[in-house]
Amino acid sequence: MAQPLNLSRMWKDMLDLCNLKPTEHVAVLTRVGAPSSYAKNAVWAAEAAAASVTYLEVPDPSSLPPTALAAIAKSDLLIDLAFSHDQRVFKTLKDGLRVLVALEPPEILARMFPTQEDRRRCLAAKHRLGYANTMHVVSDAGTDFTVSLGDFASKCQYGFADEPGRWDQWPGAFVTTYPNDGSANGTVVLDRGDMLFPMKNYLHGQVCLTVKDGFITNIEGGLDADFLKDVFESYNDPNVYAISHLGWGLSANGRWNSLGFYDKAGTEGQDGRAFYGNFLFSTGPNTSAGGTRATPCHIDIPMRNCSVFLDNQAIVLKGEIMPDDQRVPMPTTLAAE
Ligand SMILES: [Fe+2]
Repeated sequence: MAQPLNLSRMWKDMLDLCNLKPTEHVAVLTRVGAPSSYAKNAVWAAEAAAASVTYLEVPDPSSLPPTALAAIAKSDLLIDLAFSHDQRVFKTLKDGLRVLVALEPPEILARMFPTQEDRRRCLAAKHRLGYANTMHVVSDAGTDFTVSLGDFASKCQYGFADEPGRWDQWPGAFVTTYPNDGSANGTVVLDRGDMLFPMKNYLHGQVCLTVKDGFITNIEGGLDADFLKDVFESYNDPNVYAISHLGWGLSANGRWNSLGFYDKAGTEGQDGRAFYGNFLFSTGPNTSAGGTRATPCHIDIPMRNCSVFLDNQAIVLKGEIMPDDQRVPMPTTLAAE
């Protein structure tokens, strides 16, 4: 029989992973009028760890009032249950603030609960991506796409904020970087079952994207292509067609099928972004990596069954992760067969 979820225990274990110390200060951020159901769990778990806690309810998480910013600036750990995009919070990371975002429903938090092993594998992927000069992606659907790398740092999410300056999200396990400006070229064929975020849709057919010198220049296909074209055109902004971050999913317990079990308000999409061996393609800005290309339209597109090569080394082959230090270890019973 399935065990009931123990949210109190999960939050205690999460704050242990975040290295919360009794001498530290925690801010818990949520939204006025729609507070997260995790607010009490987060406050109780932090108080149980003997940390001091400030509880913040704000009307607009992406434009925080001065009092909230001051409280966050004095904190060691921000538990962000409102998904703040206030740039002043990101600047506070430089002072050592740790930020943990938690938005997904309890069963996803539990199924994808991060581990130190996830951290180890994600950091190995980040390290490998960090010294790559080229990425080449192919698929049986027709993708044949190359970028140059090296101008932007690699990053990863592993699901907890354990070190000063770390921003992370519970759950998540994937690695990303940004292509050098203007270097992306080739064809990307989005296939049936690939996903669009933030739309939270599965594609039902193929969409062929032609990419020249960093930008999508042509979009062909059926209804899904019409939809994407219409989204892009609605912004009247050439930067929406740029290639944004690229990477791959590393979560042992993320599920491609998860979107089929939730309505659109029920999940934020970490399963889709993190499921094991996906190629995470995206479009739009590169400002979060220090680039200058700003645009409000950012689409994450996890793709299945792709092969990703870094400097001709196979990192993902048809959705299977290859490097030993990034792979999920096979259960010994299966390994012996
Ligand atoms: Fe993204």
